[in-house]
Amino acid sequence: DEGAVLQPRPAVVTVMGHVDHGKTSLLDALRQTSVAAKEAGGITQHLGAFVVEMPSGASITFLDTPGHAAFSAMRARGAAVTDIVVLVVAADDGVMPQTLEAMAHAQVANVPIVVAINKCDKLSADPERVRIQLGTEGLLLEDLGGDVQVVQVSAKTKLGLDKLEEALLLQAEIMDLKARIDGPSQAYVVEARLDRGRGPLATAIVKSGTLVCGQYIVVGSEWGRIRSIRDMLGRATSSGKPAMPVEIEGLKGLPMAGDDVVVVDSEERARMLSNGRKKKLEKDRLLKASEERI
Ligand code: GTP
Ligand code: NA
Ligand code: MG
Repeated sequence: DEGAVLQPRPAVVTVMGHVDHGKTSLLDALRQTSVAAKEAGGITQHLGAFVVEMPSGASITFLDTPGHAAFSAMRARGAAVTDIVVLVVAADDGVMPQTLEAMAHAQVANVPIVVAINKCDKLSADPERVRIQLGTEGLLLEDLGGDVQVVQVSAKTKLGLDKLEEALLLQAEIMDLKARIDGPSQAYVVEARLDRGRGPLATAIVKSGTLVCGQYIVVGSEWGRIRSIRDMLGRATSSGKPAMPVEIEGLKGLPMAGDDVVVVDSEERARMLSNGRKKKLEKDRLLKASEERI
């Protein structure tokens, strides 16, 4: 990217933490809607993505992650597209196995953590205990001279949400996030689904460059030509810019969360690259199966 013009971009924030510690509720409170209530069984099945506009005019892109242990691979991928991790810890439950797992994912990916001690409205809340637990696990909290910010919040009463937003904006400012706007796009899938009418749909976060309608793309081992790009409110847009989640329509098959989006210059190249990747996946699968037999 030498010589490319870099422009400031919003932060991509992933909310992680133990199951039921309030990740989705916290995001709901932040965006003032109620997705958690609509989720079947209350377990987040997909990485949701949306943009919150702050009163200051700054915006932050948020990704939700499911708390169920079976989704740990998806959480690992989430960390790779993320600038900042919000580690949600319920003030009553305290640090749990998936809190530590999320912490480890963030640390391995070298992503800074902002701790949100949630459910502080509860009588049984003990935020001091959570601080001590996190300190014991090696997290260098700011109250103890470290640089990890901690905020006490309640998704239920909305206590401390302004402090959380401030903490995230401060962290983003320290990181001085920039991206190349022009040129070929690099993007990652955070969620994919099959829509009856529209076919395979991929929600992607653009890392650099701009995605444009009509481009041929390879996404993981699938390929397609971008037929439409929509923002998270379902509005058609002609392009996807850095840190903005967009929904891409026009793929021939369903990609997976974590897949990369590569722009190529012709249908032929798209087919070739996709076929090559499919063959490699098949080879890896066979290799793994034969190793398991040994
Ligand atoms: P998974 O995605 O399933 O891991 O859960 P999650 O971390 O997204 O938690 P979710 O938002 O589904 O909340 C779990 C439960 O905690 C729900 O019953 C929420 O109503 C409740 N809850 C979340 N935040 C708060 C809070 O701040 N205070 C109280 N009292 N309850 C909360
Ligand atoms: Na839940
Ligand atoms: Mg959830």
